[in-house]
Amino acid sequence: MLEVDHLNKVYDSHGRRVEAIGDLTFTVPEGQFACVVGPSGCGKTTLLRTLAGLLPPTSGEVQVLRRRVTEPPAGLAVVFQEYGRSLFPWLRVRDNVELPLRAQRIAKARRRELADEALAAVGLAGTGSAYPWQLSGGMQQRVAIARAIAYQPRVLLMDEPFAAVDAQTRADLEDLIRSVWQRLGVTLLFVTHDIDEAVYLGQRVVILSAAPTRVADDLDIDLPADRDQLTTRADPRFTELRSRVYAQIQKVKADPPGKEG
Ligand SMILES: Nc1ncnc2c1ncn2[C@@H]1O[C@H](COP(=O)(O)OP(=O)(O)O)[C@@H](O)[C@H]1O
Ligand SMILES: [Mg+2]
Repeated sequence: MLEVDHLNKVYDSHGRRVEAIGDLTFTVPEGQFACVVGPSGCGKTTLLRTLAGLLPPTSGEVQVLRRRVTEPPAGLAVVFQEYGRSLFPWLRVRDNVELPLRAQRIAKARRRELADEALAAVGLAGTGSAYPWQLSGGMQQRVAIARAIAYQPRVLLMDEPFAAVDAQTRADLEDLIRSVWQRLGVTLLFVTHDIDEAVYLGQRVVILSAAPTRVADDLDIDLPADRDQLTTRADPRFTELRSRVYAQIQKVKADPPGKEG
């Protein structure tokens, strides 16, 4: 479904050379909920932009739905961290959600239906005619999620989508995204710098090293599929897994790959 094959990305702007991604290889099978964690600046956003066809690799390649990515792939949706900038303030909530459907030339009645369904799925039924700026931050992020759901993507990429909301809203949104994933059967790549969030959400956690970025570890999260904030986080297995991820990240920080030998 998602293939990252020896991806390398170097930014070269105004003579300043930054190797954002060293050599990254991993695959996400169809329907998997995979989380990617790594220190700030390790190239997580760069990775997602490359998968979304917004940025060409320097070398290596990425594939989405078995096709090499050279432009934004059909069937892929992205939710970015900065919901404030991803919604159009002059469009009503419903029109924001319908926007990608317009580009697909879906008929008006069907667009409306998909948008209303998606808004209901994120608990925002009845807010379609409001403007984004009339809603709280957490609600705006739910609008961005509704827009991605309405598009009915086969692959959903999320870039630290809950980093800017308060803790309670964040917990609600985490559970929302788990239920959306279970309902839609979408392949989900979720990027976060929050270890607890990665372990709570994912079936798998891919840990990235600091730059030059590589896969430092790849953990199967064998927690029960039915998760909830209290039971799952109190599960000894949860604590064990989060400690492993934490230790791995500390190790990568202390001993960056590429600097050895
Ligand atoms: N457009 C750009 N031009 C130059 N350097 C960039 C650009 N975008 C990101 N970088 C650099 O690439 C590295 C990885 O950035 P990013 O992918 O945003 O990491 P993360 O999302 O993990 O915090 C950082 O050192 C950052 O400063
Ligand atoms: Mg980022």
